[in-house]
Amino acid sequence: MSGIRFDAVRRIYGHEGRGIVTLDGVDLAIADREFVAIVGPSGCGKTTCLRMVAGFDRPTSGSVKVDDVVVGGPSPERAVVFQQFALFPWKNVFDNIAFGLRNKGVAEAERRERIAHYIKLMGLAGYETAFPHQLSGGMQQRVAIARAYALDPVVLLMDEPFGALDAQTRVVMQEELVRLSRVNPRTVLFITHGVEEAIYLADRVAIMTRRPGRIKEIVNVKPIRTSENWDQHAKIEDVMDLPSFVHLRTHIWKSLREEKGVEGA
Ligand SMILES: Nc1ncnc2c1ncn2[C@@H]1O[C@H](COP(=O)(O)OP(=O)(O)OP(=O)(O)O)[C@@H](O)[C@H]1O
Ligand SMILES: [Mg+2]
Repeated sequence: MSGIRFDAVRRIYGHEGRGIVTLDGVDLAIADREFVAIVGPSGCGKTTCLRMVAGFDRPTSGSVKVDDVVVGGPSPERAVVFQQFALFPWKNVFDNIAFGLRNKGVAEAERRERIAHYIKLMGLAGYETAFPHQLSGGMQQRVAIARAYALDPVVLLMDEPFGALDAQTRVVMQEELVRLSRVNPRTVLFITHGVEEAIYLADRVAIMTRRPGRIKEIVNVKPIRTSENWDQHAKIEDVMDLPSFVHLRTHIWKSLREEKGVEGA
């Protein structure tokens, strides 16, 4: 079991009582092996929420729990893909991916197999010994994604992971994430500005208010996806124009538009 729970999470940055209220009462329960996407205006506190699950930040009040235990710090069971690629500059592609696997104690033969699989899948074959500064931004992000997928974590935390990718690679990554999360479900918290991406990938889409952020509304996609039969092998371009998809997209956009007005989001 590896559900995520936010209970009355408040986060204030700055001096006590005089800082900026970033989050103000976030309540969200993500079930074990559920895929939840968060959308919301820029600056509403999405990354802050994810950092708390990762163990990089703590609520000022309220609690964030994984598997019913308050998150106390980072863990290899909770892999993170950041908005900006965050590779070790002094390690080559292979070693960047291998690092977490070694830490986790994955045996060498399996480690090599997993690394080879994801290097190929992410279109990085031939770049095993290249260093991050020798790669394009999109390639670095693919290494970061390969590193997280290869860990096969219980909880996968992704903060706009495909934002820096070119359109074709983004679709490959989205489809791979669908494949991974349907075939071998894990608990995913996925932040995106892409409403279509959120609908395509997630079981539920949580919409946040503008700052100070809280969960405004949760849209349940899974029952619609299942009944409309775009659950398994559907490609994003094949489902985007279906009436059920368009209906969800319109609804989410309307809700987001109401939150316009702060920090130009
Ligand atoms: N370490 C910090 N110290 C002070 N303020 C912070 C810190 N981290 C975040 N903030 C503030 O909290 C607010 C929310 O930031 P956050 O990065 O969570 O937003 P976001 O929803 O992820 O935005 P975006 O969509 O632009 O990525 C912002 O006003 C930001 O300036
Ligand atoms: Mg962010």
